[in-house]
Amino acid sequence: MTSPSTEMVARTGREADGAPIVSVRDLRIHFPVGRRATLKAVDGVSFNVRPGEVFGIIGESGSGKSTLGRTIVALRKPTSGTILHDGIDFNALSKRELRTVRRGYQIVFQDPEGALDPRMTVLQSVREPLDIEGMGSAAEREAMARQCLEQVGLGSDFAGRYPHELSGGQKQRVNIARVLTTRPKLIVCDEAVAALDVSIQAEVINLFSQLQRELGLTYVFISHDLNVVAHISHRIAVMYLGGIVELGPVEEVVASPLHPYTRALLQSRPTPVPASMRERRKPALSGEIPSAIAPPSGCHFRTRCPQAVAKCEAEAPLWDNIEPGRWVACHFARDSVQVKK
Ligand SMILES: Nc1ncnc2c1ncn2[C@@H]1O[C@H](COP(=O)(O)OP(=O)(O)OP(=O)(O)O)[C@@H](O)[C@H]1O
Ligand code: SF4
Ligand SMILES: [Mg+2]
Repeated sequence: MTSPSTEMVARTGREADGAPIVSVRDLRIHFPVGRRATLKAVDGVSFNVRPGEVFGIIGESGSGKSTLGRTIVALRKPTSGTILHDGIDFNALSKRELRTVRRGYQIVFQDPEGALDPRMTVLQSVREPLDIEGMGSAAEREAMARQCLEQVGLGSDFAGRYPHELSGGQKQRVNIARVLTTRPKLIVCDEAVAALDVSIQAEVINLFSQLQRELGLTYVFISHDLNVVAHISHRIAVMYLGGIVELGPVEEVVASPLHPYTRALLQSRPTPVPASMRERRKPALSGEIPSAIAPPSGCHFRTRCPQAVAKCEAEAPLWDNIEPGRWVACHFARDSVQVKK
């Protein structure tokens, strides 16, 4: 895999800048559990996604990535906080208006089988979102579906095939073609390559990059695989237990992480070095992620943080704009920046 973000900006010809396409403010998504408990899947996150950028979200299982992704594409309502889509609050729209504008925000899931009906041909599956919306004539819908299949690299000989006749990578291409039919502005890719073989992952990631270049798309790219997110993203948000603990340009976060959790994720990411040649060292991140029903007081990461002190138990760290474009939530992040200077 080659260089990630600057290349992407050059290829798309768009600065990853300008008015946000999605603006998230103090977003909370809580689930009632039993009679009294509440699971805080997402708990007070704020960020902007800029047009033409790939906004990566990384974090361990259960950190709230999918819940956040689904809420961005309006598949779930927030408990509190706001999301503006191109400046529009979906809550203020009528049902009919919402149906029209939400087409612009689509999601591709991990499971390539998920969205495909085994009884439908590839062409029928890709055309289905247009059929449901009743957009254009039948001939126009078919032409659009065929065009989207071409865009994902599946020629006309795939149109009449059924899902069981396709490989995992081809099925995921069909899913991508389906979401393209509605001409989205932004696509949330939720572990969209995680179920594929490593060689196919690279192909599908390249397809995402190519589509972004050709169609001017914006992605929110969710993955637990730091290598994948770092490869494709311009900026990266690191989630831990429902919160974002660090946010910044991907090269800067990877080269000089400011949060102990980001550092641990970077240390534990797989390297191409054979296992026998790797240093024997303690795992960078030990223990399980705590329950989102009863998260630790103060800094939620303190129970696993090698630098935790008494203050971390007593006080939650502020979301600090520590350098231009870089945000972090750790009491001691400013100290580490001073030391580097
Ligand atoms: N509908 C729901 N009801 C109750 N709890 C939920 C619901 N959906 C998600 N959760 C909980 O919210 C938390 C965040 O889940 P989410 O699926 O967003 O995490 P994730 O970061 O996407 O994890 P993974 O990497 O495993 O996909 C988890 O504790 C999960 O059990
Ligand atoms: S605030 Fe304390 S516990 Fe949290 S990441 Fe920083 S040092 Fe670790
Ligand atoms: Mg998930």
